[in-house]
Amino acid sequence: MEFVFNSEYQVREVQAAPYASSLIEGHRDFGYSLETALADIVDNSITAGASEIRITAITSSDTPHIAIVDNGSGMAESELVEAMRLGAKNPTHTRLRKDLGRFGLGMKSASFSQCRQLTVISRKDGDDTCAIWDLDHVALKNDWSLTIIGNPTKLTHYPLLTSNGTAIIWEKLDRLLGDASPPQGKSIEHANAELVKAERHLCQVFHRFLQGSKPRISLYLNKRKLRPLDPLCSDHPATQKDPEEIIPLSKGNVRIRCHTLPHHRKMDSEYWDELAGPEGHVKSQGLYIYREDRLIIAGGWLGLTRQTELTKLCRIAIDIPNTMDTDWKIDVKKASAQLPPQVRERLKRIIERFVGTSKRTYSARGKKLVDEDLHPLWNRVQANGQISFKPNLEHPVFSSYANQLPDNLKDGFYRCIRLVGSGLPIDTLHTELVGNPEAVVSAEAETEDLRDLVNSLAETLLQNGVSTDAISNIMQANPYLRDNWETVTDLLLEFLGKK
Ligand SMILES: Nc1ncnc2c1ncn2[C@@H]1O[C@H](COP(=O)(O)OP(=O)(O)OP(=O)(O)O)[C@@H](O)[C@H]1O
Ligand SMILES: [Mg+2]
Repeated sequence: MEFVFNSEYQVREVQAAPYASSLIEGHRDFGYSLETALADIVDNSITAGASEIRITAITSSDTPHIAIVDNGSGMAESELVEAMRLGAKNPTHTRLRKDLGRFGLGMKSASFSQCRQLTVISRKDGDDTCAIWDLDHVALKNDWSLTIIGNPTKLTHYPLLTSNGTAIIWEKLDRLLGDASPPQGKSIEHANAELVKAERHLCQVFHRFLQGSKPRISLYLNKRKLRPLDPLCSDHPATQKDPEEIIPLSKGNVRIRCHTLPHHRKMDSEYWDELAGPEGHVKSQGLYIYREDRLIIAGGWLGLTRQTELTKLCRIAIDIPNTMDTDWKIDVKKASAQLPPQVRERLKRIIERFVGTSKRTYSARGKKLVDEDLHPLWNRVQANGQISFKPNLEHPVFSSYANQLPDNLKDGFYRCIRLVGSGLPIDTLHTELVGNPEAVVSAEAETEDLRDLVNSLAETLLQNGVSTDAISNIMQANPYLRDNWETVTDLLLEFLGKK
């Protein structure tokens, strides 16, 4: 209902402007961490056309601070004053392509989440300008007056700017270092741990800007040049990339591409761990959503399917333009999004197909290894909906040994072997495989044990009319022999030499 200013309703208006002191404190708690806050500031530098961005974190001095300095377009004083305003830009306005911003808030809310004093020094066309938001000052005055420094050349941090560009400086780092000044002990350790996390985050979030023969930006953290960390492992020859699928929508195209990471044996273990990240591969599978090439969601299926061990190598890249921000409900931190209904349905079908294939490949692979082996040491037995593994008592290595035993010991021998099978520690194996599957390996083979196995197997195969040339191929189908292939080849040559 629209109120009209007439005497019947006695309508009038009073000013109810927000209290600067409380509102600005509220802007500290948008849920940023150090890593998301830094990424938000780097977003601005990229949008401003910077090719070099340097982050310096000084945590253990008397004047701890974090500075983010870029060589982008810089701001004139009037632009800087606007930029410092909370809600500097209207979120509903159309942004230029490649603009990583949306709300006109990021620089302030990201900074206040980490510090109580934000200083911005900017140089445009050779002119310097500087503005400061100090939360203690705002709280004291309870108004929105911004401090402008007419002559920034005298500021300690002034030398950070060496060309056109912008320096964002965070001081009074109460969230990161606590209130004690100078910071010490635990708070410095905590800050360093946060910085390590932030480094990985930046390498991943901006990997598309950092990679290629001519990277779009160089990004430094405490003088260290950050390397791109591509969670889709796109450049690895063993990564499987499905063809791109496009969902055309009224506000632009959504591009989807399914990636299957290489099996851990096909890649350097350090790289494998780096890709797994602190949460591991199972938790890192899922959707990787890029907004204008900047990663905003890293992993998880947004409720479309479950994260399972069998699908841990599945990662799907989704590219969206900044024209769809409202449909995807992008938040200020650029760290969360929701799937629009039209995308959700289509994506659900893509995921079902993709993870379905992956699950089938894995299960088939496991089964094949047992079934295709001509003389397996273990049998996979499926009955009444249950799967168990039993030693294959008919394996030549067991039968040839049993044949050398007197009759009264044969039963005992087979009982021992069966006991080993029924005592297989399934629960422990399961726990270990879920927790750290790559670390679970077969026990190292003793050469003498291998010799028994190779000799008895080769003997049986020869008796069954298998040619000497084919024996080696058959043996290679056995995963245990394949894992010890070098020794097995020597033993086989030795055996055949005696024939
Ligand atoms: N490093 C920078 N160089 C040049 N201009 C900048 C820089 N950082 C911020 N600005 C200007 O300040 C404005 C406000 O930045 P802020 O991060 O608060 O909001 P935004 O980037 O517009 O949107 P969002 O809230 O989504 O980040 C930007 O739109 C830009 O015009
Ligand atoms: Mg921004």
